[in-house]
Amino acid sequence: MKPTQILMLGAALAALGGQAFAQKAERPLRPEPAPVQASDLPAVPPTTQPERIILNLTADPAHEMAVTWRTAPGLLGHVEYAQAEDGPDFIQKAVRVAAVTDDATIAVREDPAFKAAYHSTVLKGLKPETVYAYRVGDGERWSEWLQFRTAATTAKPFTFLYMGDMQNNILSEASRTMRMAFRKAGDAAFVIHAGDLINRHDSDNEWGEWFAAGGFLYAQTPQMPTPGNHEYGRGPVLNPQWRRQYTLPETGPAGVEKLKETAWTVDYQGLRLISVDAPLFHGDEAMRAEMVRWLDGLLANNPNRWTVLFLHFPLFSIDPDRDNERVRDALKPLIDKYKVDLVLQAHDHGYARGAIGAGAMTNAGPGHPSDQGSTYVVSVAGPKMYPVADLSWATRSAARTQTFQTLDVSPEAVTYRAFTATGRELDAFRLTKDAKGVARVKTLPVRGQ
Ligand SMILES: [Fe+2]
Repeated sequence: MKPTQILMLGAALAALGGQAFAQKAERPLRPEPAPVQASDLPAVPPTTQPERIILNLTADPAHEMAVTWRTAPGLLGHVEYAQAEDGPDFIQKAVRVAAVTDDATIAVREDPAFKAAYHSTVLKGLKPETVYAYRVGDGERWSEWLQFRTAATTAKPFTFLYMGDMQNNILSEASRTMRMAFRKAGDAAFVIHAGDLINRHDSDNEWGEWFAAGGFLYAQTPQMPTPGNHEYGRGPVLNPQWRRQYTLPETGPAGVEKLKETAWTVDYQGLRLISVDAPLFHGDEAMRAEMVRWLDGLLANNPNRWTVLFLHFPLFSIDPDRDNERVRDALKPLIDKYKVDLVLQAHDHGYARGAIGAGAMTNAGPGHPSDQGSTYVVSVAGPKMYPVADLSWATRSAARTQTFQTLDVSPEAVTYRAFTATGRELDAFRLTKDAKGVARVKTLPVRGQ
């Protein structure tokens, strides 16, 4: 580098530093990731080869699995599947089922008349705790054989993954978090995504990045998303891809079309998992009332040992300028009444975890950390970072840190660990319950430090 270039660089850095300082003095600095918007480029049309293959759990994960993918328009969809074997002979035993095909023309951000055939089917009558192999195609062009495992019918130990917003620079910068998660917990039963999977709700290229970030992992481990504000456009209207590219359980409030595949529940080996559609819970009074009624029933009649509620908007924000009062005021009484064990959230682009006891509270939460009550977590998987305030309730918090979380569930305990994108352990605790069903939280030493 020439001396003049060094001088120029120095001047540029000084100017940047001055600007950052000036902004900081006014309000917290909220740096955005470098603007790499896939949605600024033309859409990439699907080909004859199956793509964006994904599994979703159904309401009966011991006996069923939902498969969804897409191709160029005009093609049919089939799934071939068989119980997997150690060698290749299972292929002779495979049976073929026809998929439902939605040969769609949809308005996406990059193209007002985007054409793709979305195929989906639910494989039924499967044996519990069994590995199946499957492939998808039109009868001539097929995917590779992919494998998954069905759930047990009883409360047996399993692991699941929890991811916060991937949202920005999804393929270039959020994918490493997802892929490190699979290195740590490659045998996870499923993955939950707490909303804002992408940034511009109807961008097909951003959804393409999201699928590329997980690649074949999504075709072997069920992905279970809840929508964030970035999955909705003005209206609010859910993006046109969501219900076409996923086959999520239709276990939400009965007969409520707007909440189909956004508010849903699944029981998995002793755990009741509930997705709350946070944008509609916040912004649509009628939908909030529907979800409150639905949750009250789900939580009152719950034979499972553990209950996990997940939604995009945190009840206790990690930034005092961000307050989801309507969500907190309507949800917390239910969480308290039914002693929901874990509330897993996103949206605030930082990390915080703490137990919060019963009672009405403001956004600031209680003035002290606790080892009892429901545990609330906020996390972020992608690169967009917001400041994290000094939180009186949080046992652990971290700013500018991309994380994923593993949750080992057994009838005796839930062991939770948060890891950074590099695989470093950041936080850990164990949840147990007394005879009255009150959860106790024991913070565990972080390993590898
Ligand atoms: Fe968000």
